[in-house]
Amino acid sequence: MADRAWPVLSLLGVDEACVSAQTVVAPSTYAAVALFALTLIPITALYEFASPSGYGRFASRSLPSWLSVSARVGWWLLELPCSLVFVAALLYHHMSSSSSSSLSAASIFLAVQFLVHYAYRGWLFPYLIRPHADSRFSLVIALGGWLVTVPHALLSAWWVLAVGPSCGHVALEGASGVRLILGGLLYAVGLALLVWHDALLRSLRPANADATNAKGKAVARYSIPRGGLFEYVTSAQYLCELVAWLGFALLQGSPNGLYILLVSTFNLVPRAVRTHAWYLQTFPDYPKDRRSILPFLC
Ligand SMILES: NC(=O)c1ccc[n+]([C@@H]2O[C@H](COP(=O)([O-])OP(=O)(O)OC[C@H]3O[C@@H](n4cnc5c(N)ncnc54)[C@H](OP(=O)(O)O)[C@@H]3O)[C@@H](O)[C@H]2O)c1
Repeated sequence: MADRAWPVLSLLGVDEACVSAQTVVAPSTYAAVALFALTLIPITALYEFASPSGYGRFASRSLPSWLSVSARVGWWLLELPCSLVFVAALLYHHMSSSSSSSLSAASIFLAVQFLVHYAYRGWLFPYLIRPHADSRFSLVIALGGWLVTVPHALLSAWWVLAVGPSCGHVALEGASGVRLILGGLLYAVGLALLVWHDALLRSLRPANADATNAKGKAVARYSIPRGGLFEYVTSAQYLCELVAWLGFALLQGSPNGLYILLVSTFNLVPRAVRTHAWYLQTFPDYPKDRRSILPFLC
């Protein structure tokens, strides 16, 4: 069954021979996880087009309390496998007696980039958000999301540690080196813009999201985002996220890079379209020339 992944993986420059030449992961295991990840791409698209994931403004009000957690815990749980599984794989590789090889500079660069990303998204972002008292996060989304995050972390770790170098895609020299620099620059720009736009959204609420104003009235939970790319699109933070993942896909040059870029696109584009409709419906004075996610286009 897992063998079905090889034709697709070969198209992406990863064939059975080069995966067999490394010792960190068995080729059949790599192919099985890659096949699972590839299968998740259309499933994510269907799921997200059918209905928005149940958190934030789209959280179901009828969700039983035992099936939901606070937004902060939900985000942390959802992203937890990315840092945990990746670090566990690095440690296992380091301690394994059979793997005495040390990592190349290119592999270390990719590992640091992955860890920086999930230090932000998995730990800092959940800590910084300003959820209001009724913010709920569906446990189905938080734990079901592991179906996406665990393969992402595993495939990334295997790629950085062994599969990428073995297949000649993780190196500082030649075409790989150029790809690594261009992808790294694009990723860095995307991440910087993402952190900035996440902060712009956060600043729309007071630190105590349930504060009352001078007249004792509750502060509005949502207001119109301003500044940066929000002047052009409703979900500027999603656009920046996708730029970062495009940089990541280029930087890694891996099937996993393409996987997370496509899963994120199918996740975020339908949500951006729904969010745009929600703003137009909620705020009569919402800027009519803003688009959902792509400036001037859609
Ligand atoms: N790679 C992927 O597939 C993927 C998937 C989802 C999200 N993400 C990333 O994760 C980050 C968070 O995304 P998200 O979907 O949770 O949505 P979000 O809309 O970016 O929400 C982030 C925080 O800002 C608050 N907020 C949003 N709009 C606001 C407004 N108009 N006024 C006041 N507060 C507002 C939200 O509160 P509420 O929770 O109360 O709405 C939440 O606390 C983004 O950077 C996104 O790119 C990535």
